[in-house]
Amino acid sequence: MATLSIPEEDTKITDPREITDYLAGIGIDYERWDADGLRVGEDASEEEILEAYSAEIEQLKESGGYVTADVINVSPETPGLDQMLAKFNKEHWHDEDEVRYIVKGHGLFHIAPEDGPVAAIEMEAGDLIRVPRGTRHWFDLCADRTVRAIRLFQDSSGWTPHYTDSRNEEGYQALCFSAVSSER
Ligand SMILES: [Fe+2]
Repeated sequence: MATLSIPEEDTKITDPREITDYLAGIGIDYERWDADGLRVGEDASEEEILEAYSAEIEQLKESGGYVTADVINVSPETPGLDQMLAKFNKEHWHDEDEVRYIVKGHGLFHIAPEDGPVAAIEMEAGDLIRVPRGTRHWFDLCADRTVRAIRLFQDSSGWTPHYTDSRNEEGYQALCFSAVSSER
């Protein structure tokens, strides 16, 4: 289950309903597809994962105009992991939506709305986020340096980061709030 924090207001929200409502208020879709655990093993093949969630994927494609779906795998063993992460952990936006459904590991999204404070969302298996095109955000891994996620694309060539060069991210900690970080 995701954890939402608003660092400027020193608040943390763990109730899924409240997280959904808060994020909807800043234009971000958040859903739980699997309330009672994942329907596939976290190490299932890409084909098995896409098959298990084909109904949800088709629905999203229809409503959001996404044309392709894949599964991204990131682990501590991923070659060039730090260089890859450095592309996404600075404030940026895209010409298309960023849609992620987490099946393994964790991811930390910071969202910088046009109005209002920055929201930090720690995602884990079972969480879906949709960050609409043009939304300023940045992404970090968590202590496990692992994330496996279904991605949907409207046009994969459009998924290029446009950096704001605001250095906004420097004011926020790339910290996760879950058991993963407290185990350190
Ligand atoms: Fe992004």
